Amino acid sequence: LRTQVAIVGGGPAGLLLSHLLHLQGIDSVVLERRSQDYVEQRVRAGVLEQGTVDLLHECGVGERLGREGEEHEGVFVQFDEERLRIPFQELTGRSITVYGQKQVVRDLNERRLADGGRLLHEVDDVAVHDIATDHPSVTFVHEGESQALEADFIAGCDGFHGVCREAIPADVRRVYERVYPFGWLGILAEVAPSTDELIYANNARGFALHSMRSPSISRFYLQCPPDEPIENWPDQQIWDELATRLDSPGWQLRQGPIFDKSVTPMRSFVAEPLRHGRLFLAGDSAHIVPPTGAKGLNLALADVDRLAEALADHYRTGTETGLDEYSAACLQRVWRVQHFSWWMTSLTHRFEGPDQDFDRRLQRSQFDYLRTSRAAATTLAENYVGLPLR
Ligand code: FAD
Ligand code: DHB
Repeated sequence: LRTQVAIVGGGPAGLLLSHLLHLQGIDSVVLERRSQDYVEQRVRAGVLEQGTVDLLHECGVGERLGREGEEHEGVFVQFDEERLRIPFQELTGRSITVYGQKQVVRDLNERRLADGGRLLHEVDDVAVHDIATDHPSVTFVHEGESQALEADFIAGCDGFHGVCREAIPADVRRVYERVYPFGWLGILAEVAPSTDELIYANNARGFALHSMRSPSISRFYLQCPPDEPIENWPDQQIWDELATRLDSPGWQLRQGPIFDKSVTPMRSFVAEPLRHGRLFLAGDSAHIVPPTGAKGLNLALADVDRLAEALADHYRTGTETGLDEYSAACLQRVWRVQHFSWWMTSLTHRFEGPDQDFDRRLQRSQFDYLRTSRAAATTLAENYVGLPLR
């Protein structure tokens, strides 16, 4: 088996990379551990930056997104019962779009299959070889058969638990990490959203987020212990806690049947560099942000946009410049987004410990600053809608 670019991981990063390369006439094979159904049903992100939306439109996979995505021109930040709107459009001229990661993955899968893309699902024992040479390869087992895929380059789009990052020798890899002492309990409910725009709430009992997927489906998150067993949260207790943490004068939370529940731990993580020889990392395989800024998916797609361009330049002209600059260029965006996601997390979550009263006063002060300073609100807005892709 041979291809130009072997892509490990068929999540959003791997699929978009494969599609962008196809548009440039570059052949790739995607190797994905799970079934297509599993990847398409995984509930995750819901917010796309304007740059991400533009990118998906430009590369021809934005049709359903244009029809079903909901454009939001602002977001609410709440401290105790006081709710403040950050008007993105007014402050930055840009907005965000609410559209589920499930849909993004489905749109990309459909398009790759329609274009005759080679996507292998339920692939096991993936291992990458000879990445420091000009003839790297990937071995794997598919339908009970051991196979080898030879390539010019390997893209590690295999998420945080993948194998590609570990293939970079320990003496050249550096890891930066922060683990938070809490997680998010996320639910999907069959009920119309009780708000037009997302609400990020800092309550004395902990963080809560009201998001949505469609006019009839709401998405919520509650700060909880990182290893919280889901059984500790019967449905009615979730609704009561959401109603308490999101409470604001004159506002009412609509309830409905909950059809999905999960707990996600929270961390900040960066592995540097993103390239070793002929292996390039992109997306969650190289970096994780806490979800508070809604950045992970957007960052993953920004990486592959850059990688596709660098590979296209290389195949067209033989230049190595884009490939050489890939890691440093991505890391600049990665660290900006790391800072913003950490800052949004620090502003909105309950931190227990000896400094907790002091910390909460700082949060209150920052919230007041957002309310009174256009500069402060603009800082939040321009990071949330996303800085330019290039
Ligand atoms: P993944 O989506 O993890 O895809 C990696 C793929 O590789 C997977 O399909 C996996 O099965 C496959 N794989 C792994 N190991 C192997 C292997 N050894 N061999 C072959 N295949 C392998 N981001 C946002 O932008 N906005 C949000 O609102 C947001 N909310 C989130 C909420 C939650 C609860 C969570 C968990 C995440 C959220 N994120 C959000 C983050 C976002 O979901 C991720 O950043 C995004 O999925 C990254 O895409 P990826 O393709 O890099 O990695
Ligand atoms: C969603 C997830 C996030 O992490 C976030 O910050 C906003 C919305 C969501 O799943 O809808």
